[in-house]
Formats: sequence, C-alpha cells, structure tokens
Amino acid sequence: MSSDLYAVVGNPISHSKSPLIHSLFAAQTHQDMEYTAIQAPLDDFAGTVSGFFSRGGKGLNVTVPFKEQAWELVTWRSDRAGPAGAVNTLYRDAEGHLCGDNTDGVGLVRDLTLNHGVPLRNQRVLVLGAGGAVRGILGPLLAEQPAEVVIANRTLTKAQALVDLFAGGVRLSAEGFDSVREPFDLIINGTSASLQGDLPPLDPSLVDESTISYDMMYGFETTVFNRWAEHQGACRSIDGLGMLVEQAAEAFWLWRGVRPDTSKVLSQLRQEGF
Ligand code: ATR
Repeated sequence: MSSDLYAVVGNPISHSKSPLIHSLFAAQTHQDMEYTAIQAPLDDFAGTVSGFFSRGGKGLNVTVPFKEQAWELVTWRSDRAGPAGAVNTLYRDAEGHLCGDNTDGVGLVRDLTLNHGVPLRNQRVLVLGAGGAVRGILGPLLAEQPAEVVIANRTLTKAQALVDLFAGGVRLSAEGFDSVREPFDLIINGTSASLQGDLPPLDPSLVDESTISYDMMYGFETTVFNRWAEHQGACRSIDGLGMLVEQAAEAFWLWRGVRPDTSKVLSQLRQEGF
C-alpha cells in the first residue's frame, strides 16, 4: 500500500512551509502520508484539483490566489468556511463530494488563546484590514465573545461591508485609520501592508502598556507593525507563525482525526530561523 497523498496548491508555491509543517506532523503522529506542493496554472485551479483527487489524493490545502475559487468549487462548505468566503482545506466525503473548510480563523484563535495565553472573551479588539485574510478570521474571532471588535481599513466601505456581513452578537464597527482612537487590549494586523514593509497610519493612542499586538504576517525579522506597537509601549508583540502552524494542525485533524503537538513543531521551526 502506498502512502496517502496530500498537497498544498497555490501560485506561486515554492515558498510554502506547509510541506515541511505537515511532514513534521506526520512523523510526530506516525501517519503514513506524503505531502507535496503543487503549482496550479492561474487559469486551471479546478482542473488541478480534480486531477489530484482522481489520482487518489486525499486532501488539499489551498493558498493564494485560489482560496476564493476553492470556495466556489466545493459542493459542501463548513459553517466557518461559508461566511469566510474562502476555503483553505479540501477533502472528499464518503460519497465523493468535494468538501471545503477554512481553518485560518481557528488557527488564529488557538494560537492566541492556547499558545500565547491571550484572552479574547470580554476584550476590546482592533482588527486592521478588511481584505480576504480578515474576512477569513472574523467568524471564529467573534465566536470567542470579545466585548467589542472594531475593523479599521484604508478603504472604509470595505470595513463597513464586513461589519454588515458579520453583524449580530458582538459589538462590531468600522472605522478609517484616521478616526480610530483610544487603547485596545489586542490589535491584530490583517492588512497586507507589511508585505511591502508599509505601516497603516495608526494613532499612538491605540496602544497602552497593556496592549498586545498580533501580526498575521511573520518573517525573519520583527514586522514593521509589531515594531511600531513595541515602540508605542505595547506589552507583547506576536507574529503569525503560530497561526500558520495551527491552521495546518486543524487541517491535519480534519483529514487524519489526529491532533499533532503544535508546540514541538513551532519550536522546531523557530530553531530553523523562521
Ligand atoms: P488579503 O487576502 O491579504 O487580505 P486583500 O484582500 O487584497 O489581501 O486585502 C489587503 C488588505 O490590506 C486590505 O484591507 C487593504 O486595504 P484596502 O482595502 O484599502 O485596499 C490593506 N492594505 C494593503 N496595502 C496597504 C497599505 N499600504 N496600507 C494600509 N492598508 C493596506
């Protein structure tokens, strides 16, 4: 019997850490599986997915720029994938239907609450950005019952659209970067500004000595956003490597029914310089 096949699909894909993370999970939990990276042509994501499953593949992770297409493609979506508008985990059910889930939000929440002991319940949370990445995490974040979530974005209408989509339950509002003021318990950067080494124009009053900053990005060096927060006196700054590992662990659990010990994998990655 050959190993069960899994892969991550994206374009480009060579930078992906998912094959390394999943092979560490597989070794740790003694799962007989192989996990590779597939670069799908920009115009043939659907063909790449159907080809993979018809070769006997068991599950796929989906990354940029195909998460929204994956959402369109599936026959069944989980409750967390539905409002996220994006799917990052694919598998087939017993009848062969293509099923889609989104593990990004739960990855963020588990990293914050379990790995870093950051409470979310009754906290005031500021989320920066209103693109796909933020839409993907809002459902699981709101489910933790923070006191309030403010979404601040360069384009206010996009933040307002997310407020309308996720309204109900937790107090939720939209702001521009120039209008949001006063300290928050937690500020999550979900903009892609750090990719260009940019920082949204944030007011220093957002941070006090009990503010925690979380950048969904990570890199060899502290991100521009986390550097800014530290400079304003934030008590802790956290990068998104743990979120990456936790979203992978949730996909692994969906596929294999086994939860890997993520703390071991995270420290292995940190030791390797990530
Ligand atoms: P992603 O999938 O990474 O979320 P996206 O959907 O293109 O990508 O969204 C990018 C987010 O980063 C948006 O909130 C964008 O702001 P706009 O909605 O106003 O475009 C934000 N963003 C990107 N570059 C930025 C910058 N230099 N300063 C501030 N916000 C930025």
